[in-house]
Amino acid sequence: MRVLITAGPTREPLDPVRFISNRSTGKMGFALAQAAEAAGHEVTLIAGPVTLPTPERVTRVDVETALEMLAAVETHLPQADVYISCAAVADWRPEVCSPVKLKKAGMDGVLKLVRNPDILKTIRPLKGNRIFVGFAAETGTPEPEAERKLREKGLDLIVANDVTAPGAGFATDTNCVTLLFPDGRREAISLRSKLEIAQEIMAKIATLR
Ligand code: C5P
Repeated sequence: MRVLITAGPTREPLDPVRFISNRSTGKMGFALAQAAEAAGHEVTLIAGPVTLPTPERVTRVDVETALEMLAAVETHLPQADVYISCAAVADWRPEVCSPVKLKKAGMDGVLKLVRNPDILKTIRPLKGNRIFVGFAAETGTPEPEAERKLREKGLDLIVANDVTAPGAGFATDTNCVTLLFPDGRREAISLRSKLEIAQEIMAKIATLR
């Protein structure tokens, strides 16, 4: 299969030195890229700003903002059989990005934000018979929110996790997740390395084809 993966955060600039972003490190998405490549798939990895090395034989495309990530997904989706949206896309961006550093004195303490597009929802009309996989990182019991996102985003599988659970979440090397399918099936994967979780997710995706 040809697998397209997004990973990491996006970074939304206010000016050349400041941005808003989130705590995603890209570890889960990079583990998925590594697991997919090891399973014999052709992998393109669209990465937000992260400090991780590119897994061997994986084609990497670096982006910074949500709008750049959307454009890269639109470019690479036609060549993909599977799209795994693992990135923690910033929901909002500053309305204006100043080309020069903003002066403290000129700032009034109010930052005007505008919504970023939801990448999965934007590309949904292009889905065809591709498999779309999403992630739902929540604080607390993730399943109800994940269930809603699975339906709203038209996914074939969503991977839910509680980012506040011990050993789970953003900067850790381990995770524990629940896989939710549109037919109501749920499968829990207990605490293990992100690479092992990624291998299980890839094996599950292969059964969806
Ligand atoms: O941020 P949220 O919890 O809605 O993310 C759920 C899924 O939607 C994830 O797979 C994420 O990559 C994707 N997403 C997206 N575009 C956004 C926000 C999230 O594709 N703007």
